[in-house]
Amino acid sequence: MKHFVFVPILFFGVAVGSAAQAQRSQTPMMGWSSWNTFRVNISESLIKETADSMVAKGLKAAGYANVNIDDGYFGGRDGNERLISHPKKFPNGMKAVADYIHSRGLKAGIYSEAGNNTCGSMYDNDAFGLGVGFFGHEEQDVQTFFDEWDYDYIKVDFCGADRLRLDEKTQYTRIWNAIQSSAKAKAGGEIRFNICRWAFPGTWVTKVGGSWRISADIRNSFSGNQGGLLGVRDIFEQNLYLAAYASPGRFNDMDMMQVGRGMTDDEEKSHFGLWCIMSSPLMVGCDLRTIPRSTLDIITNSEVIALNQDTLGLQAQVISRSGHCIVVAKPVETRRGAVRAVALFNGEDAPKTLRITFKDVQLGGKVKVRDLWAKTDVGLFDGYYETLVPAHGAAMLRLEGESAFDKRCYQGEDAFMNAYTAIVDGYSGARAEEASDAAASGGYIMSRLGGSPENWAEFRDVYVSQGGKYIFKLHYYSPESRSLLVIVNGTEHRMANLTSGGGGSQAEASIEVELRQGSNVIRLANPTGMAPDVDMFEIKPL
Ligand code: GLA
Repeated sequence: MKHFVFVPILFFGVAVGSAAQAQRSQTPMMGWSSWNTFRVNISESLIKETADSMVAKGLKAAGYANVNIDDGYFGGRDGNERLISHPKKFPNGMKAVADYIHSRGLKAGIYSEAGNNTCGSMYDNDAFGLGVGFFGHEEQDVQTFFDEWDYDYIKVDFCGADRLRLDEKTQYTRIWNAIQSSAKAKAGGEIRFNICRWAFPGTWVTKVGGSWRISADIRNSFSGNQGGLLGVRDIFEQNLYLAAYASPGRFNDMDMMQVGRGMTDDEEKSHFGLWCIMSSPLMVGCDLRTIPRSTLDIITNSEVIALNQDTLGLQAQVISRSGHCIVVAKPVETRRGAVRAVALFNGEDAPKTLRITFKDVQLGGKVKVRDLWAKTDVGLFDGYYETLVPAHGAAMLRLEGESAFDKRCYQGEDAFMNAYTAIVDGYSGARAEEASDAAASGGYIMSRLGGSPENWAEFRDVYVSQGGKYIFKLHYYSPESRSLLVIVNGTEHRMANLTSGGGGSQAEASIEVELRQGSNVIRLANPTGMAPDVDMFEIKPL
C-alpha cells in the first residue's frame, strides 16, 4: 500500500522539476537596451522602431531576442498607487509596447528600482521617477509589470534603495519572491531578473539573480575611470576573478555594450569578444536604426557568439596577465573535452605579440587553432600559439587539442569565496587580491580567508580522471603561524603551523588526500582563526 502512495508522488515531483528547469534560459541574454544612447529620452516609437530594426538588420536571426526598456518610461502612480507610463512618451501604455515587441517575435524587458526613487530622478531630472520604485509596492508592481503589462525581464536598480540604506540581499530577495508569486511565473512563464547594484554584491546573488552587474556604469570609451564611470578594459579587469560565481542561467553582467558608438573596430572587437568569452549578457546599447555595418558584422559573428551561448555556461578564467595584456580561456562544447575558447587581449596602447601555451589550458599533442574573427583555421601548432595583436585588440581563438589532461594547478583567486562581496562596508570575506610578491603565480592570491565559519572558499570542480591518493601541495603566505582546514568531499584535513615568515615570502606545505574519479569539491577554511593567504594549490597523483 505504501508503495502505491509513494511512487506516483515521487514521479510527479521529478517530472515537474525537470519541466521547470527546461523553461529557464541557461545562456546569457542577448538583446538591446535603451540606456547607453537615449538615457531617459525614450518613447513608444523609438522602442517599436528598434524592435523593427532588430529583425530587419539580422540581429534577431543572430540570437538577439530582447528589447529592454531602461529608465525613463515612468509616469508616476495613479490614485490606486498603480504604476503608469509617461503620458507623452508612452501614450498607449507599456502593455501596448510589450505587445508590439512580442508581435515581432522578440521578448520585452523593463526596468525598476529596488527603493523608492529612480536613478533617473536623481541624475537625469526625471521627476516622474520619484516614488515609482518597488519599495513598499513589491507585490503590486510585480503584478503590473508581468501580469498586466506582460514583460519577460526586469532590471532592478539601487539608487533610491542606496539612499534609504536598504539591505540589498533582503530587498532583492523580497522582489524576487514577489516575482515568483506573479500569475505569469506561476503559470510557468519565464521572468528573468537582473540585479543592478554596480558591484558583485555577495554570493546570495547567485541564487536570486539571473544576472547581476559587477561594476559601475560603462562609459563610451575603451579605458579609464571618469566620474566613476568605467571603460571596457576596466570592467573586464574587474570581472577577472568572478568566474566561480557564474553558472548556467546565472551570469556576471559587465553592463550594456558601447559598440556602435564610435570606438575603433579593434576596440569593438575586444569589447564584444571579451563580453562573449566572459559569458556576460550581450545587450547592444547603440541606436539600432543607424548601427554601422562594421559593428553589425562584429556583433553577429556566429563563432564569437557561440562562446557566449555555449551551454556549459562557464566564464573564462585568467591564464596569464602582464600589464593590460591578459589571456583568458575556458572549456567549450564539452566539459571534459579538448576544446578551449581563448582571448588574447591587448589592452596596451601598442601592438603586442601574445601567446597561449597549450599546457596551461590542459591541451596535449598538436593543437588546431581557429581564428574566430576571420572564421578560418590558422593551422596545427606544437606547444604554443602566438600572434601579433593590435593595440586595444583581442584575438579570439578556438583551440582543439589531440588530447586533454587533468588540471593540476588551482589558483586561490579563482575560488568561490563564500563571504565575498565587492560592497566594502564592514566587509570581512576572502577576496582575490593583487600579490605583493612577484613570485605569486598569476600575480594574484586569495586573501582574508577564515576567521568565521562562513568565510570559506571552494573549488567546486577539481576533476581527476583517476581516483586515488594525491598530494595536495599548498603555496601560501602567512606572516605568523596559521592553520587551514582542507575539506575534500567533506573529509577534513588540518594543516597546522603554516608560516612563511615576514617579508612576504612564499612557502609550501603538502598533505595526502583521497580524490574520487570525476569531480571533487575542495573547501579551504578556518572557522576560528585567520587562514594563510593562498597563491595556489597543486594536486599530484601519489
Ligand atoms: C543606473 C544604472 C544604469 C541605468 C541608469 C538609469 O546608473 O546603473 O545602467 O539603468 O541607472 O537611470
